[in-house]
Amino acid sequence: MRIITGCAYGGPEIWGIEKPLIDNNTMEEQSQVYSMPRIGDQAPDFEAVTTTGKMKFSDYAPGQWKILFSHPADFTPVCTTEMSGFAERQEEFAAMNTALIGLSIDSIHSHLAWVDNVRNNTGVYFKFPIIADLDMKVSKLYGMLQPNESETAAVRAVFFIDPENKIRLIMYYPLNVGRNMDEIMRALHALQFSDEHKVAMPLNWKHGDKVIVPPPKTLEEMDLRLADDSIERIDFYLAKKEINA
Ligand code: BEZ
Repeated sequence: MRIITGCAYGGPEIWGIEKPLIDNNTMEEQSQVYSMPRIGDQAPDFEAVTTTGKMKFSDYAPGQWKILFSHPADFTPVCTTEMSGFAERQEEFAAMNTALIGLSIDSIHSHLAWVDNVRNNTGVYFKFPIIADLDMKVSKLYGMLQPNESETAAVRAVFFIDPENKIRLIMYYPLNVGRNMDEIMRALHALQFSDEHKVAMPLNWKHGDKVIVPPPKTLEEMDLRLADDSIERIDFYLAKKEINA
């Protein structure tokens, strides 16, 4: 089992944790080592060893959305609940044309033992690939290693990557707070629905709710909008409509 160092939370008595050693590093120094992909970027490519075999990321699940997510460490409680959450909804992700891929800075042996352990304890089986990122190559490439949170464990990152391998949404959670699987599903659904129908999603949107119609860009479009009674119009720039799909 690995000791996670440099974690800012939880208390050493619980996690065996020390303060980060490099929290005095300047932003400039850190950004030279730890890159941070952004929304709209092409997903950085890499090769990795995973629980389903060696992989070149750009060859993984062609034509599908991908959710690439990191977790701090195998055999830890929050991670076990999160990983199980992904596994339990894998069919739902598949129905949304989405492939999962996990990552932590652990060895392949540790991953295999943990997958087997959780399967034996709870019956939940992590079938999707989990990257063994012992050399931290992928964690650094994707800004999953955030050294003032931990120097040795990835934070809880989620990258939503579209079928053209473009990064469309990013979430970062700290070590001590688990993610919300409903929000991950909702965000994926919103991205896909937005692409399909060329609309935007308001606060707390969920499937079945009205969507935002893009605002007019010319005076003519504005007048058309103001005359359109088929939509719920608060004003010309804020209008919603129902899409039954
Ligand atoms: C956890 O998954 O339980 C965990 C991992 C690292 C730090 C804190 C919690």
